[in-house]
Amino acid sequence: MSKEIVVSGVRPTGRQHIGNYFGAVVNFVKMQELYNGYFFVADYHSLTTHPEAADLKAKVKQIAVEYLACGVDPNKCALFVQSDVPQIPELYLIFNMFAYMGELEREATFKEKVRSQPNNVNAGLLTYPVLMGVDIIIHKAAKVPVGKDQQQHLEMARVLVRRFNNLYNVEYFPEPQAFSFETDLVSIPSLDGEGKMSKSKGEQTCIYLSDEPEALRKKIMRATTDTGPTAPNSIKPTAVKNLFDLMKLVSKPETIQFFDERYNDCTIRYGDLKKQLAEDMVVFLTPIREKIKELSTNDKMLSEIIGDGGQKARASAAKTISDVREIIGIKSF
Ligand code: ADP
Ligand code: TRP
Repeated sequence: MSKEIVVSGVRPTGRQHIGNYFGAVVNFVKMQELYNGYFFVADYHSLTTHPEAADLKAKVKQIAVEYLACGVDPNKCALFVQSDVPQIPELYLIFNMFAYMGELEREATFKEKVRSQPNNVNAGLLTYPVLMGVDIIIHKAAKVPVGKDQQQHLEMARVLVRRFNNLYNVEYFPEPQAFSFETDLVSIPSLDGEGKMSKSKGEQTCIYLSDEPEALRKKIMRATTDTGPTAPNSIKPTAVKNLFDLMKLVSKPETIQFFDERYNDCTIRYGDLKKQLAEDMVVFLTPIREKIKELSTNDKMLSEIIGDGGQKARASAAKTISDVREIIGIKSF
């Protein structure tokens, strides 16, 4: 039996942090063993916010390098760049005819962008979910590993699939489903004590995969805490709980138990907790950081990997485009 198809993309907006790693990248690494995976860098999507042309290539490369360093294996999946697959803009054009203004205007992310970038409310922002849907259905994917923030976009992909199948009276595209190995989607906390880790909150609040040990230690030592517990067995305030949650990702159970006991009997020193967390984080990230450095200098290998990935993606996309043209009546003479 052929393997189920999985697609996921990420916008090239900068270095990946441990939130991206534990929230997304580890899923791809596990999935490539079980599914036919298409993992890509969504460079067209990033144009909606007008990135600097001079930086874009480096950002695309950064994502590819970091995915590979984390264990994404180009022999087990297709790792590619969206703009290397011309069938995507073709299917996007076609599907724009099936997406209605009203439903696109109601998307939460569109409304959020209208608020956050009022001087750049471009048509690409409005049809962002159509392009994302096309990324997925062009490979006839069944599963899409995405964070909670992407669920509405995925629903739009399902609506478009149903609409196409109904309009042409076919059962051509499967309805893609959100996917996670965890029952609850993970959310890695920020170092500023509030909310999830995110690039948009600034360099000092994120632990990046490529951070040098010194930079990483400094950030962790500056993480928000409070003045310490005043009563035994009290509930941890969010900022302190966040540090324990980060520890759970990289420290040994006995280390966590040690600091838990110190918290509960009010003898904890947050400086010691942070030092330990920083050292365990350094140990965890060092092999990844070294691999990132090594791969960054090997442009030839990278371009081969991305070239091969693009070829696999184009082959799968070309088959879909040819079927869709046939279904909608665009036939060659
Ligand atoms: P950022 O918020 O830093 O810009 P992105 O939007 O580029 O992150 O996210 C890329 C992927 O990483 C998405 O699949 C998203 O769900 C996941 N992700 C980002 N931050 C976190 C986090 N703090 N915890 C868990 N997953 C996250
Ligand atoms: N919109 C996604 C994000 O902002 C990125 C993305 C583009 C994507 N195309 C996709 C994710 C297809 C999953 C499948 O993170």
